[in-house]
Amino acid sequence: MSNKLSSILKDNHVLLTGGTGGLGLGVTPTVLAHKPASVTIPYTNARNVERLKSVLSVTDLDSIRFVTANLTDESPVENLVNEMEQVDVLIHLVGGFSIGKTHEYPYEKWKADLGPFQIIKCPAVATSRRAKAPKYLGRRQNIFNTALAFITWRSLELNLALAFLVLKHSLRRMLEHGYGRIVTVGSRGAVQPGGKLAAYCAAKAGLVALTQAIADETKGTNITANIVLPSVIDTPSNRDAMNTENASGWVKPDSLAQVICFLASEAAVDMRGAVVPVYGNI
Ligand SMILES: NC(=O)c1ccc[n+]([C@@H]2O[C@H](COP(=O)([O-])OP(=O)(O)OC[C@H]3O[C@@H](n4cnc5c(N)ncnc54)[C@H](OP(=O)(O)O)[C@@H]3O)[C@@H](O)[C@H]2O)c1
Repeated sequence: MSNKLSSILKDNHVLLTGGTGGLGLGVTPTVLAHKPASVTIPYTNARNVERLKSVLSVTDLDSIRFVTANLTDESPVENLVNEMEQVDVLIHLVGGFSIGKTHEYPYEKWKADLGPFQIIKCPAVATSRRAKAPKYLGRRQNIFNTALAFITWRSLELNLALAFLVLKHSLRRMLEHGYGRIVTVGSRGAVQPGGKLAAYCAAKAGLVALTQAIADETKGTNITANIVLPSVIDTPSNRDAMNTENASGWVKPDSLAQVICFLASEAAVDMRGAVVPVYGNI
C-alpha cells in the first residue's frame, strides 16, 4: 500500500455491516489496515464471526467490537448506532440475492424476510436450468442456475429495507457530528439487470436511489454517500457454487475493499452520489 493511501481511516469510528460475510473477509482486514479508531461489526451468525476471526491478527481483533444485532428491525439498528462513540464511516455490505422467474415469483418472497438459505418451493426451481442468467455470467449460466436453484435469500427486506434503517440511523449520528462517509454495496445487476434476478436487481437499483438521495440531502455538509457495484466476487460461497469455473476474472474482495476504503476516506470529499462499477474482468 502506498504512503498516500495508508491509514486513510485513521481515528475514524467505522460501522461495518456484513463484515463477517464472504466480501467481509476481504473488506474487514483492509479497513483495519487503514488504522481506524474502532470497527463495529453487527452479526447474527456466530459461525461467520469465528471464520472472520481466523483470518485476523490479535491486534486486529483489539479494534473490533462484534455486536449481535438483527438489522431487519429498527430498535437493534438504533441501539447499535447509539452505542457507538461516533459514526464517522458507514460501510454497508449486508445484502444477498434471491432467484426466480418474475411470473412465478411468490409475492411474500419478493417483499419479505424468509430467512437465509430457504429452499425455493415455487415452480422456478423446476424450470431454472432453462432460465436466463445475467449476460455477464456468460457460459456460467447453467452452473449458476443449477447451483443456485435450490437457494434463495430475502430480497427487498435484506437489500433495501434493512439498508434504509442502517443508513437512516447512521446519518442521524453523522449529522449531529458534522462528518460522515457512507459507502453502500449494490451489484452490477442494479444497472444491468438479469433474468431470474428481478427482485434482487430491483432491490439493488433501489439501493442506488437511496444512496443518491442521501448524497443529495447532504449537499453542503461534510457527509458523502456513494455506492459500488461489484460483479461476481471471489468469495468462498461463489467458489463452492461455481467450483468448475475459472475465477480469475472475478472481483477480488481485497481490491474491492481498496475502492470502498477510498470512498470512505476524507480524500473522497468531492464524490457524492457516485455509482462506481467494480466488474473485475468479466
Ligand atoms: N458475492 C457476490 O458475488 C456479490 C456480487 C455482487 C454484489 N454482492 C453484494 O455484496 C454484499 C456482500 O456479499 P457477500 O457475498 O459477502 O454476502 P454474504 O457472504 O452472504 O454475507 C452477508 C453478510 O450480511 C450479514 N447479514 C445478513 N443478514 C443480516 C441481518 N439481518 N442482520 C445483520 N447482519 C446480516 C451476514 O452476517 P450474519 O451471517 O452474521 O447474519 C454477513 O456478514 C451484498 O450486498 C451482496 O449483494 C455480492
